[in-house]
Amino acid sequence: MANIAVIGGQWGDEGKGKIVDLLSDRFDIVARWQGGPNAGHTVRFEGKTFALRHIPSGILREGVTAVIGNGAVIDPVSLLQEMAELEEKGIRVAGRLRISHRAQVILPFHRELDRVAEENPASPSIGTTRRGIGPAYMTKVARLGVRIVDLGDVEVLRRKMRSLVDGGFGAMLGAAASQAPEMLAEEFHAHGSSLASCVCDTSSWLGERLRAGARVLFEGAQGTMLDVDHGTYPFVTSSNTVVGSLFPGLGIAPRFLNGTIGVFKAYSTRVGAGPFPTEQAGEVGDRIRERGREFGTVTGRPRRCGWFDGVAARYAAGINGIDTAAITLFDVLDEFAEIPICVAYRWRGMELTEVPAEPWVSDEIEPVWEVLPGWRQPTSGARRIADLPTPARRYLDRLSGILGCEIGIVSVGADRTQTIVCSDSLWAENTKTGAGALP
Ligand code: IMP
Ligand code: MG
Repeated sequence: MANIAVIGGQWGDEGKGKIVDLLSDRFDIVARWQGGPNAGHTVRFEGKTFALRHIPSGILREGVTAVIGNGAVIDPVSLLQEMAELEEKGIRVAGRLRISHRAQVILPFHRELDRVAEENPASPSIGTTRRGIGPAYMTKVARLGVRIVDLGDVEVLRRKMRSLVDGGFGAMLGAAASQAPEMLAEEFHAHGSSLASCVCDTSSWLGERLRAGARVLFEGAQGTMLDVDHGTYPFVTSSNTVVGSLFPGLGIAPRFLNGTIGVFKAYSTRVGAGPFPTEQAGEVGDRIRERGREFGTVTGRPRRCGWFDGVAARYAAGINGIDTAAITLFDVLDEFAEIPICVAYRWRGMELTEVPAEPWVSDEIEPVWEVLPGWRQPTSGARRIADLPTPARRYLDRLSGILGCEIGIVSVGADRTQTIVCSDSLWAENTKTGAGALP
């Protein structure tokens, strides 16, 4: 199939970066449509580790053009630094990155708002990444946001930054405001000049490339359970992370999407606060964290760890219409004698098979477990499904049954090569057409 999306089926950090990297040599363009520097994606190959924030993982494959769409929020300082880091490690970025002129700009003011909101005892502490993501989406929807296009004119910038403060958001900061944003107009105008060669109308450019036959991989950030509408609200990020959001987030038509890969860890993790019914706070959680190196890419925070939540995963598979699942960090489970899967929630004597929207229910639910035997053998060397021990294959079959779709990929280690491809029906026919190169 021509164009496919890779999205997170859980609470983010599912290992989408590795899956995108694996597939992207068959694509001309890799495009991101939401989120910002809250999204840490790590890719390892040839002994090098690449930790990306804004830029889609596809940038690591030669001959791929990377796009950051209008639905994203961009911290220009952080993005310029990310670009420089890649160039230093031998990855050419110049001439391979397109940034939407309609994307929103994250200002230091947004990061300060993020901190103040997190520290305010009167509002729930979400445990955000404190990168200013929520406040940047807040001022976008309030129609006061600064967009990449505005960086081109210092007077426009000064005026817009002033109205951000005077338009009410300044009052939220009060004495915490370290700098009036208009003081930053010249600085941000200069960042705009540094980015200018990458900035364009990505919606019309992508549309034109798609019509010319370019193969596009759409790269999601965060995960379905962090979606602002469909996740565990209010403990969510401030953008839509589900696959349908890629159309407004990139300004392209739904007919260009041909299939969706949902990425799921073989267990669950969550960073920050919010419901997590399968969490294992004790020794089991510690063992998963240690084996899976479950510490945040962006913030370094230890991730909360637990068993696979089949109720949440099935919900995510439904919302996104997942065609194929990629199961990651599979080898992390190698040492466990028994592996429970949550197949329903119990609440006041009732069994629930749907994710509850009511926070008072989410707070009280207990998992109903189905316990599968472990395999207690290393799986990192497996390259075909047949190489896996029988209990490991049974575990995967059970996940497939719960998700209601095939398992297309199993990742058994961090490296590009440590991967089992069980089904490539979504992308087997795919080859680059060459229609994604920049003029
Ligand atoms: P924000 O996106 O920084 O506003 O954070 C909101 C919530 O989403 C917090 O619980 C974060 O830990 C979580 N979050 C945001 N981005 C990611 C990510 O890339 N991986 C995992 N969790 C994330
Ligand atoms: Mg991450």
